[in-house]
Amino acid sequence: MQKGCTLWFTGLSGAGKSTIASKIEAILKDQGLRIEVLDGDEVRTNLSKGLGFSKEDRDTNIRRIAYVAKLLSRNGVLAVTAAISPYREIRDEARESIGDFVEVYVKCPLDELVKRDVKGLYEKAIKGEIANFTGVSDPYEEPLNPEVVVESDKETVEESVAKVLNKLAELGYIPAAVKVK
Ligand code: ADX
Repeated sequence: MQKGCTLWFTGLSGAGKSTIASKIEAILKDQGLRIEVLDGDEVRTNLSKGLGFSKEDRDTNIRRIAYVAKLLSRNGVLAVTAAISPYREIRDEARESIGDFVEVYVKCPLDELVKRDVKGLYEKAIKGEIANFTGVSDPYEEPLNPEVVVESDKETVEESVAKVLNKLAELGYIPAAVKVK
């Protein structure tokens, strides 16, 4: 029987949270495991439609995600969240309430993210065209004790995926057979 848990990705926009989460989803679905990804951008088009990026709205967004992740986790699903979730206190609140919680910090230096600028948002944020942009004009509080740290400017997506799967296997949330070297 699969033991549910929440795999909580945190990190700046463009760091690679969704990319890593969706690779993990594909691998584990293929193994017949129950997994559900709550992606930041997707959540904001339905569950959190209408919310903005003030601290209050972000906290509401994260609390909603944590609530759904908790329901999934306690029903034996691996719930994967991939929102910036910039505030430590709210992430820790989610950890506390969910219990089975694996936090992954997707770390990437700001100058690399500005170089990548996949969505073109960093350029706008730097020019002041978007206010309160995380990492530029809004805070991001790094996790102090995440279960996994991946450095997306230094390792390949496959290496990051392997790190996360290995941790999940080590903690008993996925079969050791899925373990990736
Ligand atoms: S969170 O802070 O509430 O966790 P979330 O992950 O849902 O953020 O949404 C982040 C995404 O919204 C970014 O990847 C980016 O595409 C978009 N976005 C728009 N405005 C902002 C902003 N001010 N700060 C951060 N991301 C923003």
